[in-house]
Amino acid sequence: MTPKYLAPSILAADFANLERDIKMVNASDADWLHVDVMDGVFVPNISFGMPVVQAITQHAKKVIDVHLMIVDPDRYIKTFAALGSTNLTVHYEACTHLHRTLQAIKAEGMKAGVALNPHTPVHLLKDVITDIDQVIIMSVNPGFGGQSFIENTYRKVRELKEIILTHNANTLIEIDGGVTDHNAKQLIESGADVLVAGSFIFKAENPTETIKTIKELIS
Ligand code: DX5
Ligand code: ZN
Repeated sequence: MTPKYLAPSILAADFANLERDIKMVNASDADWLHVDVMDGVFVPNISFGMPVVQAITQHAKKVIDVHLMIVDPDRYIKTFAALGSTNLTVHYEACTHLHRTLQAIKAEGMKAGVALNPHTPVHLLKDVITDIDQVIIMSVNPGFGGQSFIENTYRKVRELKEIILTHNANTLIEIDGGVTDHNAKQLIESGADVLVAGSFIFKAENPTETIKTIKELIS
């Protein structure tokens, strides 16, 4: 089986103890660190901005997986590269010239991702699939942590996997929202490669052990 990755979402961390929580992730079995940037326009919430992202990247030792939930993300591609992002994912619904945006992200040396809201069909990506390093299928409506998983996601994962295979693409399928020990295995079996988990990890009594448990479930 190809490697499967777990990306704790820092949105659910204790922001008064950010360094402690990042160090916990550093020392854990997690593979990536998912960083949600929200602008209060594309989504009805504001998370944090550049100074906080900089503080995160300074301490984190994992792959930095930035998920931009902002309008007109092209404006900030260079900024996020300079801040140390490994992956930069933009929303399909926020990009008029998606192909150009993807090339601009790669030109800055980052992996280029596209996120899809729950109502956006995966087939809309078929003409750019070979240009995409990771697709984030949103399994909740973006904007908040701690929401419940939308069951339709499994079908979207299977459909996207088929598109990836048909086009001989190397695109990873990432799932974001409501991921727990109840759906992790089935998501991987449906074709997912990366699972993001926020509340389930950071609100757990023992986040390190919870990370280990999910990693074992998906490996
Ligand atoms: C939601 C964010 C998610 C969020 C997931 O808009 O994109 O990354 O942190 O949190 P949970 O795992 O709590 O649903
Ligand atoms: Zn996210």
